[in-house]
Amino acid sequence: MTTTEPRNAFQAGGPSRRTVLAVGATGVSALALAACSKAAPPSTNSPAASSTAQSGSGAQPSSAASSGSGSGAKVLAKLSDIQVGAATAAKGADGRDILISRTGQTTVAAFSAICPHQGCTVANTFMCPCHGSTFDPKTGAHISGPAPTGLATVPVSVQGDNVVAG
Ligand code: FES
Repeated sequence: MTTTEPRNAFQAGGPSRRTVLAVGATGVSALALAACSKAAPPSTNSPAASSTAQSGSGAQPSSAASSGSGSGAKVLAKLSDIQVGAATAAKGADGRDILISRTGQTTVAAFSAICPHQGCTVANTFMCPCHGSTFDPKTGAHISGPAPTGLATVPVSVQGDNVVAG
């Protein structure tokens, strides 16, 4: 009794060597195509991902900003959140730091919070934390310190309890 065991799968009725090579080549080609056509990963440059936090400046953004006022103007702050004679830090319509000073019951003035000296963020006390320049909360004018000018005026208006851009 001389049964001969097949020496390999090709002799045992499995796929021929030619079939295996063809399938193998097809598989490699398919993998290559899959690798080349793989979609790019989703971008990480979404607005949320690219936003930056400000810290250490002494100026805190208002929690009331960013919703609509009903008139289409961007709401920057709530008037009732600012005491007369005080100021709050907020984001302007362009997203930059501003200071909103309540100059009367229904009046406000707003200024860029970017110090004209070297660009630090001026606190809502109208004092720059970097080199101590101070500014007038009603006019933004330079009072003391190394800043060469006052703070730039930002146009805002009061609509009801909203301080809005423009
Ligand atoms: Fe404000 Fe220098 S950056 S005083």
